[in-house]
Amino acid sequence: MIISGRKPCFMGEISVPGDKSISHRSIIFGSLAEGETTIENFLMGEDCLSTINCFREMGVTISVQADSVRIQGVGMRGLKKPEKVLDAGNSGTTIRILSGILACQDFESEIDGDASLRKRPMSRVANPLNQMGADVRCTNVKYPPVKIFPSKDMKGISYHQPTASAQVKSCLLMAGMYSDEMVEVIQPEISRDHTEKMMLHFGIPVKVEEKTVSLCKVAPFYGKPIFVPGDISSAAFYMVAACIAEGSDVLIRNTGLNPTRTGIIDVLREMGGDITIENESVMNEELIGDIRIKGSALHGITIGGDIIPRIIDEIPIIALAATFAKGLTIIRDAEELKVKETDRIEAVCQELSKMGANIIPRDDGMLIEGTGKLIGAAVKTYGDHRMGMMLALAGEFAEGETYIDDVDCINVSNPVYFELLERLKH
Ligand code: S3P
Repeated sequence: MIISGRKPCFMGEISVPGDKSISHRSIIFGSLAEGETTIENFLMGEDCLSTINCFREMGVTISVQADSVRIQGVGMRGLKKPEKVLDAGNSGTTIRILSGILACQDFESEIDGDASLRKRPMSRVANPLNQMGADVRCTNVKYPPVKIFPSKDMKGISYHQPTASAQVKSCLLMAGMYSDEMVEVIQPEISRDHTEKMMLHFGIPVKVEEKTVSLCKVAPFYGKPIFVPGDISSAAFYMVAACIAEGSDVLIRNTGLNPTRTGIIDVLREMGGDITIENESVMNEELIGDIRIKGSALHGITIGGDIIPRIIDEIPIIALAATFAKGLTIIRDAEELKVKETDRIEAVCQELSKMGANIIPRDDGMLIEGTGKLIGAAVKTYGDHRMGMMLALAGEFAEGETYIDDVDCINVSNPVYFELLERLKH
């Protein structure tokens, strides 16, 4: 794709597609519930479609119409042995959370993904699952494809997570639903808590005490309606666009405002961003509201510590905001970026450097000296949706033309990314 940078301003109202994390979980819990679950505003992105396909392979009837989904839940013991290898595509959330469920079934299964997923560590879920008595075997000790064999009894665990990860936490909680003994996950910092919230929505008695989440064998539970809030991680790109473009005024409606996800609002406000929240309400335990963003002059800040899990997917777009902010932005404690869809420290620094940004990679983050200027260049997304969305926006603000090698990957999380951007562009 070629983008001619015109330094637009952004005006108007949009709603972004449904939250990716909540969409995955709505399929997972709807499939394991007894009876019907209906989902509105579901994200029809490729990652969530991978989760749907995996459950279909295991005998769950799931019908899809526009952004609505209807699931005939089979109950926790109703999944069938898949006839082929389950395909998680590009989705870390699918492969990691499903592993916790598959480890507790009385059938053998195998789960795999695309070339990017095959480079992402699965030992982080296999090790604690195996400590619980599961039989989960990774390729080369660490990676997908993963073979999962039935195990008789799943034991409890009190697991201190070495790194904050909602995927790992959720995987263990899913296994905990099948265990007679208590499963307890102690987080170093609190990661997104959509699994816990959805459990409460379905009446599953999960206990949350500060950084510790626990549960043990749950009784059958029943299908429920779910409304998926707009994805704040998709909204983040339009938020940054509006923040850095003078004269912008954008309203993003019905966006998820779960406090474990709103680090982007805190970061942009600390950088001088003009952001207000309107019309807050709660739907299926999740906070939701409208976000208004106006263009303003940003300045550099230092970002690290316990905010990192709350912005982990937003760091590529924060890096772009920092190139347009006055002064130095330091991002640290973010080594997890190395094991995302691509190594996002390396990828962000490489590609923004090609566009003339003053950005230096660090082992746990990056340093960005804002120059207020980018120059069009030929850049690569590494097949990573968030790299694609960030670079496309960088192209809008750059002088001259930007050539992006592959923007199809953006369909993983926001199939209407460009449509919404065009609607706001003035
Ligand atoms: C997710 C958790 C995060 C995040 C990913 C979605 C989830 O990963 O980066 O995009 O839905 O649980 P980690 O749990 O590995 O931090």
